Amino acid sequence: MTNHKTVLILDFGAQYSQLIARRVRELHVRSELVRYDTSAAEIRARAPAALILSGGPASVLAERSPMPDRDIFELGLPILGICYGLQVMGRMLGGEVAPASNREFGPASLFVDPKTSLFADMGEEIEVWMSHGDRVDQAPPGFLAVAWNDSSPIAAMEDPDRAFFGVQFHPEVNHTPRGIEMLAHFVHDVANCAPTWTMGAYAQRQVEALAERIGRDDRVLLALSGGVDSTVTAALLDRAIGDRLVCVFVDNGLLRLNEAEQVRERYKERMGLNLVSVDASDRFLGALDGVVDPERKRKIIGATFIEVFEAESARLGGFRYLAQGTLYPDVIESVSFKGPSATIKSHHNVGGLPERMKLELVEPLRELFKDEVRALGSELDLDESLIWRQPFPGPGLAVRILGAVTRRRLDILRDADHIVVDEIKRAGLYRGIWQSFAVLLPVQTVGVMGDERTYENVIAVRSVDSSDAMTADWTRLPYDLLARISARIINEVRGVNRVVYDISSKPPSTIEWE
Ligand code: XMP
Repeated sequence: MTNHKTVLILDFGAQYSQLIARRVRELHVRSELVRYDTSAAEIRARAPAALILSGGPASVLAERSPMPDRDIFELGLPILGICYGLQVMGRMLGGEVAPASNREFGPASLFVDPKTSLFADMGEEIEVWMSHGDRVDQAPPGFLAVAWNDSSPIAAMEDPDRAFFGVQFHPEVNHTPRGIEMLAHFVHDVANCAPTWTMGAYAQRQVEALAERIGRDDRVLLALSGGVDSTVTAALLDRAIGDRLVCVFVDNGLLRLNEAEQVRERYKERMGLNLVSVDASDRFLGALDGVVDPERKRKIIGATFIEVFEAESARLGGFRYLAQGTLYPDVIESVSFKGPSATIKSHHNVGGLPERMKLELVEPLRELFKDEVRALGSELDLDESLIWRQPFPGPGLAVRILGAVTRRRLDILRDADHIVVDEIKRAGLYRGIWQSFAVLLPVQTVGVMGDERTYENVIAVRSVDSSDAMTADWTRLPYDLLARISARIINEVRGVNRVVYDISSKPPSTIEWE
């Protein structure tokens, strides 16, 4: 990927840092997020075309606020500071930063100097999104104030000679309608990055790079879950090394209706992958027998998966590499400047697998965000149904059956879940929804069917909108659709006499019920 020019984003911990990276990529320029304190020497070694200093929650006026290496300003690179990044520039380059008299948060209008390059052709007034407590009161030597309003005398500044720019607002958010044009000007014109980062080019380069890295006699092992990440990883490797990629699919008995058969059919027959499928459902269900606690379920499923997968890999033998569908947000988690966050659920069920297996890792999606993985999947001609599958948790239906997991309860949930997804697809809503599924509750309620009194299970329907699963809101599904889902579940699934709809957002709830 070295042929693409890169914009490095120094991450000062803003909630929008990832978004800046995505916006740059949407402009077809490669971007990477690095820690705010990455040394100037390392930055030089990476040879980026430009730097962006992100926003951040700290105040440059506070003691020990995060500051970059002073020498980054001597690298001769164009630099754009956003919000906290602007204040860093203001402070480090000799201007004056002070607490704003009013914290400015939300939409704001700015007067701009239309002769300046960032706002060229934008008229004299622009709408922007602000979120800051400090402000630059005096621009550093060499800089001109190029945007202002009553609360911020220097809402943007630039030093045309050094190609340094700073903006107090957030050009990366949609609430700054012309923000993308400002970013485009910076990366395309100022930093001179041609828009060459396309998924087609990326796919081709990745395939070449994989083919080059993986020796002619080396074999690669991949745990295929059927989700979009492992599917796209498999497709890339399949193109690069063909049958030397061995995909192992573990049926843990906790999958959705007909899922195991579908995976076999789709991946083996249609995609022609070298697929080994292992039916380990008895083993998983045996290990889960009588287990009620959600975290214990996860641990058991994770540990059993590793045992099964290791045994299979030993049986097949001779692997040098383990491929994983790690995405960029997982990578950023480990580099960025963030406080420790408590483990709410142990999601990384198979964490530790690569270390244990002593295989070298291949992670061809490490640079990509989820939507880019989907675009890459399209580029590789994958079936739409594979690309647009909603996420499904590793522990599967076990964390959607509250209480102990039994075969009977799995069957009830599978049938109910199938109806939820089927109706949502029929309504044409499946793609736009982050996840939609059924949950089987550990309560029975009274009902009446015909002349009979019933005392049976409750199904909760969960459907959420989200862009990254970190936060989510319940989908405002049409009442008619909910009515159809409810009627079908109660009529078609034996053992269920009541359906409820979950109207909780995350936070404070979570997406899954366990
Ligand atoms: P929560 O329930 O924490 O879920 O809001 C956030 C996202 O993660 C998925 N999820 C999991 N994925 N193993 C996984 O691979 C897990 O143990 C697990 N728990 C939750 C969940 O489906 C949602 O997309």
